[in-house]
Amino acid sequence: MPQEVRGVVARAKGEPVSIETVVVPDPGPGEAIVAIQACGVCHTDLHYREGGINDEFPFLLGHEAAGVVESVGEGVTDVAPGDYVILNWRAVCGSCRSCLKGKPWYCFSTFNAEQKMTLADGTELSPALGIGAFIEKTLVHAGQCTKVDPAAPATAAGLLGCGVMAGIGAAINTGDVTRGDSVAVFGCGGVGDAAIAGASLAGASRIVAVDIDDQKLEWAKEFGATHTCNANDNDAVEYVKSVTDGNGADVCIEAVGNPEVYKQAFEARDLAGTVVLVGVPHPDHTIELPFIEVFGRGGALKSSWYGDCLPSRDFPMLIDLYQQGRLDLDRFVSETISIDDVEEAFHKMERGEVLRSVVVM
Ligand SMILES: NC(=O)c1ccc[n+]([C@@H]2O[C@H](COP(=O)([O-])OP(=O)(O)OC[C@H]3O[C@@H](n4cnc5c(N)ncnc54)[C@H](O)[C@@H]3O)[C@@H](O)[C@H]2O)c1
Ligand SMILES: [Zn+2]
Ligand SMILES: [Zn+2]
Repeated sequence: MPQEVRGVVARAKGEPVSIETVVVPDPGPGEAIVAIQACGVCHTDLHYREGGINDEFPFLLGHEAAGVVESVGEGVTDVAPGDYVILNWRAVCGSCRSCLKGKPWYCFSTFNAEQKMTLADGTELSPALGIGAFIEKTLVHAGQCTKVDPAAPATAAGLLGCGVMAGIGAAINTGDVTRGDSVAVFGCGGVGDAAIAGASLAGASRIVAVDIDDQKLEWAKEFGATHTCNANDNDAVEYVKSVTDGNGADVCIEAVGNPEVYKQAFEARDLAGTVVLVGVPHPDHTIELPFIEVFGRGGALKSSWYGDCLPSRDFPMLIDLYQQGRLDLDRFVSETISIDDVEEAFHKMERGEVLRSVVVM
């Protein structure tokens, strides 16, 4: 029997989100229904609402979540009803050209549920990142469910489903940050602070946090930033150089999605260093760089999709670190809110008042 539940829907570009009745079909072959316990508000949800990802409205928002599997469809063996899972947006296929090259973290053909959740009138919804988790129960591909230790509360565990994994992975997987490295992180929201935490875990010796909001810079220190720079009051590039013996940082991570900030990351990097773009650009953005510098500085300009993570490998490992007290996921949670408060949480995010608002069901 299809179920009717409440979910947060973005009906049109730039319009406030609304709570709608959503029809969730029974799980088909390879699918699972997950009862959501908690789901963080990520900036990518706001990008969806702003039409910055694509225009396949209406969207069912939310994608950074943990919950319990309620039922599974035919042929599902990896998860079972009652399993505590973090939802991922990288259910790897195992057979695309990247998986076959042994690089499943770039999988070009990830699985999502085949069936659609709909509004009561039958209108099909586009779930954010193939998940849609600001909802009591959601329909996903079973491969999108990564089992983890149920002792970790959903408010913390769910964050690994997107922003925190993206940030930690941008530093550790994409940026290859290692002991003794200098790292500069531009943009210290949930993703940027996770990059700082990742750089700290990897043994970076200097970690420079750059933001335009002093409160964000204070929080960045709690995740391991050794230096902070307000880019409205200072030249961020000169500042990063000044605290890295005049050289620039080995790894510069852009966690805003802004071409001007990307240029700062490009210029604040040491010779042969790495720039990692984890912020999501708007489709209309363009960027101009001095070509001779692209060559002359050497190194690598990389993008980080989901922190180049492999959920089955990385989620349980990071939950272990959390439980050992080595990764403070709770510190990302600025507030817990109800499903009715997502629109207000977007405004708080825009005003810079929160790191993560987390919807608790
Ligand atoms: N690559 C991925 O897989 C992935 C995953 C999740 C999120 N993201 C993207 O990462 C970005 C950050 O997400 P978030 O949830 O942390 O957002 P957020 O809104 O919490 O944080 C953004 C931060 O950037 C700061 N900022 C804004 N303009 C700045 C500037 N000019 N210079 C320096 N700092 C500036 C803000 O003050 C804020 O602290 C978004 O673009 C989001 O879509 C990417
Ligand atoms: Zn694949
Ligand atoms: Zn996200």
